[in-house]
Amino acid sequence: MNKPHLMSSMAIKEDEEQSLRPEKLIQYIGQQDIKDMLSIYIQAAKKRNEPLDHMLLYGPPGLGKTTLAQVTANELNVKIKITSGPTIEKSGDLAALLSSLEPGDVLFIDEIHRLPRFVEEVLYAAMEDFVLDIVIGRDGESRSIRIDLPPFTLIGATTRFGDLSAPLRDRFGVVFRLNYYTQEDLETICRRTSAVYGNKIDEHAVVSLAKRSRGTPRIVNRLFRRVRDFADIMNDGHVTESITDNALKKLGIDAFGLDQTDYRYLEAIIDRYQGGPAGLEAIATQIAEEVTTVEDVYEPFLLQEGYIKRTPRGRIATKKAYDVLGKTYYEGFLKT
Ligand code: ADE
Repeated sequence: MNKPHLMSSMAIKEDEEQSLRPEKLIQYIGQQDIKDMLSIYIQAAKKRNEPLDHMLLYGPPGLGKTTLAQVTANELNVKIKITSGPTIEKSGDLAALLSSLEPGDVLFIDEIHRLPRFVEEVLYAAMEDFVLDIVIGRDGESRSIRIDLPPFTLIGATTRFGDLSAPLRDRFGVVFRLNYYTQEDLETICRRTSAVYGNKIDEHAVVSLAKRSRGTPRIVNRLFRRVRDFADIMNDGHVTESITDNALKKLGIDAFGLDQTDYRYLEAIIDRYQGGPAGLEAIATQIAEEVTTVEDVYEPFLLQEGYIKRTPRGRIATKKAYDVLGKTYYEGFLKT
């Protein structure tokens, strides 16, 4: 009895996620420079009746890389297959995916930097010449066979551009770096999300949610969903400023979008390492988070907002970090 129920609620969740995603480029908010270029590339590919060049999207998590890949496939009127680097364990997995594509289709590989190296090597010929070179048999008996593939577009996404091997990086004709969203863009996304869910939302609440979203649509949507729970129960679904502030306070999110982990991160540098420099691994251990999570999720925002600086000897806390923690900062603290 339990299982069908569980499955149906998961399906609803996925549908919800899906309806939040824009379908066409014109509905995709923000990243204007990328949209302008992409629109030209898509139109050119369609005019020439060719697949779009392989495209690499990189930048911090939650900025809409998967969404942009789906929008691209929609604009090209082709299907998209979505997978991720760590789930492709064998070259056979990649071969099965590639050979199931129809001409012009998009294959989206999230976290492409986590593709096993030998799988990556199979991908090179697939990207370059639309062929699969597969070794069958083993030892003295082995031989290589070549299978033709339909022309396709690979869209790779990564939070770690630097972890990509040079040969893979060089095979992408189009490379876009997604940036943090502006306050205005996040407000627009928030209003849209509220409309998709059928909630009325006050402008003050929109501004407040956007301000705390660390430049990230995924976060504005997540915060909105939490606040909406309070509004649905307490106020007939109407998201007001006071409901928003109350809910965010309960969630432990401050006026600058810093959460408990950000605070612990800054406290670790300031209290434990006298403001730094402190090594990434030492900080991660101190706050009991994975090194990659700290580096990919927490640090980009703290750096961008000027709470920390990166130096060759480690991270240092700036005056802004001392201020937000209510600690006294002395000139001369900043060591390089
Ligand atoms: N939802 C999440 N990201 C979005 C974006 N960039 N534009 C519109 N809706 C979104």
